[in-house]
Amino acid sequence: MAVLNVNIDHVATVRQARLADEPDPVWAAAQCELAGANGITVHLRQDRRHIIDRDVRVLKETVACKLNLEMAMAEPIVKIAEEVRPEQVTLVPENRAELTTEGGLDCARYKRRLAQVVKRMHKKGILVSTFIAPEPEQIIASAQTDCDAIELHTGMYANAKTKRAARRRLRELETGKDLALEHKLVVHAGHGLTYRNIGPVAAIEDLCEFNIGHSIVARAVLVGIGEATRQMIELIEKFQPAASA
Ligand code: PXP
Repeated sequence: MAVLNVNIDHVATVRQARLADEPDPVWAAAQCELAGANGITVHLRQDRRHIIDRDVRVLKETVACKLNLEMAMAEPIVKIAEEVRPEQVTLVPENRAELTTEGGLDCARYKRRLAQVVKRMHKKGILVSTFIAPEPEQIIASAQTDCDAIELHTGMYANAKTKRAARRRLRELETGKDLALEHKLVVHAGHGLTYRNIGPVAAIEDLCEFNIGHSIVARAVLVGIGEATRQMIELIEKFQPAASA
């Protein structure tokens, strides 16, 4: 059964818009957890544009479900992860000018650094996932560096302009998932997923976790984050393949 981690970065975006102390992502995390979220995901960016160090530390103390820290492999951030010890880190590329994480991590290119980071995370008992495009060389590099999981980048599917293009992107996700499973990797998925486009992705067998942020926080403005979380969990469960339901 696939589960939902709610990415609460954009609760912090609203707070940082005024450099105020509300809304507090820690309060949001509690609501998501009460509504049945499997986990809370936050991205501690190097520019601290939304989540700040205090959030990660307080979430570590207060979140009882999974805490998944998205992060670049930059040394100061790696040190914070070692200190805070979230249950899982998801390694992402980071580019200062981007609106959100754009491409996947180039695990093949940065294999040596990736192997070092994985080793250091494992030493602290932290699971490691890499956020990657569904490409064989990225999947294989993640397996060869001893990662526990991969998160398949669903952004290309979400941005597909035609049904045909969306189907092609779904097939790429399926093929990537199969290759990852052959390499004993757990498979997550995320980016750009919404209440409208989650169905076909939730129907892919053997995906374990979805990381969804913007769409849930956007709906939360109108219905509350607990209700928005419940509505997304309902959809994920509704579209689960029968065999794994
Ligand atoms: N997964 C990863 C690795 C991400 O970087 C993000 C965006 O922070 C998400 C999932 C969530 O994407 P969205 O906000 O589009 O749901």
